[in-house]
Amino acid sequence: MSQTILVTGASSGIGKASATLFADRGWNVVATMRNTDDGAGLAGRDNVLVTTLDLLDSASITAAVGAGIERFGAIDVLLNNAGYGAYGPLEATPMSVLRRQFDVNVFGLVETIQAVLPSMRAQRSGVIVNVSSVGGRMTFPLGSLYHGSKWAVEGLSEALHYELAMLGIRVKLVEPGGVNTDFGGRSFVFTDAPEFPDYQPLVDMAAAALQEEASDDNQEPHEVAEVIFGAATDGSDRIRYISGAGATQLLGNRYSAEQDEQFVAGMRAQFGL
Ligand SMILES: NC(=O)c1ccc[n+]([C@@H]2O[C@H](COP(=O)([O-])OP(=O)(O)OC[C@H]3O[C@@H](n4cnc5c(N)ncnc54)[C@H](OP(=O)(O)O)[C@@H]3O)[C@@H](O)[C@H]2O)c1
Repeated sequence: MSQTILVTGASSGIGKASATLFADRGWNVVATMRNTDDGAGLAGRDNVLVTTLDLLDSASITAAVGAGIERFGAIDVLLNNAGYGAYGPLEATPMSVLRRQFDVNVFGLVETIQAVLPSMRAQRSGVIVNVSSVGGRMTFPLGSLYHGSKWAVEGLSEALHYELAMLGIRVKLVEPGGVNTDFGGRSFVFTDAPEFPDYQPLVDMAAAALQEEASDDNQEPHEVAEVIFGAATDGSDRIRYISGAGATQLLGNRYSAEQDEQFVAGMRAQFGL
């Protein structure tokens, strides 16, 4: 029988590429998005359900998960992909902007996990793939909001993997570097704070660096989708999947992947997991 994946943010970028790749490989796909008009390219296939999910609307999260289970019988993989980047000097950033960043990138992701867990727990199987970033394990200047949210995703995912492993549910983190999507364009929120001249030299430098970041060494969304497919299907206990050579190099300058896996293995052993 076909497996089923629910994807958040399937309207664009990595989410759209992942929904397409899984559907092309015979999976049932619950392609969720804020505006279902954006799902025209995915709709109309027998194995795809395009439905509404806004991470700022709890009822839409529950409804989308319910609709997916009703249509395909189960959700085997949750791909928590939807998210965006908010940057700017922390002091100048309104709390509403900060809260929204965490509501979408962190609390919406958590609510979606909570919504799929009853059925995954009942079936004693499932994979939750959370799209983090290299920015979930390192930071760029003026990124306290975005990086704070992605470090939160990293921390909660690593902790969660312990408690769900014993229920047959795996938790994975995919960490892309730069990817050619709408992330740096229409999705990007930048508080440039001209009323805070103290920060302007850094604002100018960061804006230039982010521009450069967008052009060098970027992956295409379908390449990240391949990494996500591997994470969802490899049957391993591995938690982190770095996507792309640029990301591997960046993180390699700071962490050893081997040490990370050895450390987590030690923790599992200590708790008998
Ligand atoms: N591109 C990169 O360089 C990069 C690098 C590392 C990690 N990432 C991560 O990859 C993920 C996907 O981003 P992307 O690069 O594919 O960018 P994207 O093309 O801008 O896609 C972002 C997706 O998130 C959705 N979204 C935003 N707010 C939402 C909300 N409140 N509820 C539901 N969906 C919402 C967007 O929906 P709409 O179409 O309705 O706006 C869109 O589908 C994000 O978590 C991002 O942090 C991206």
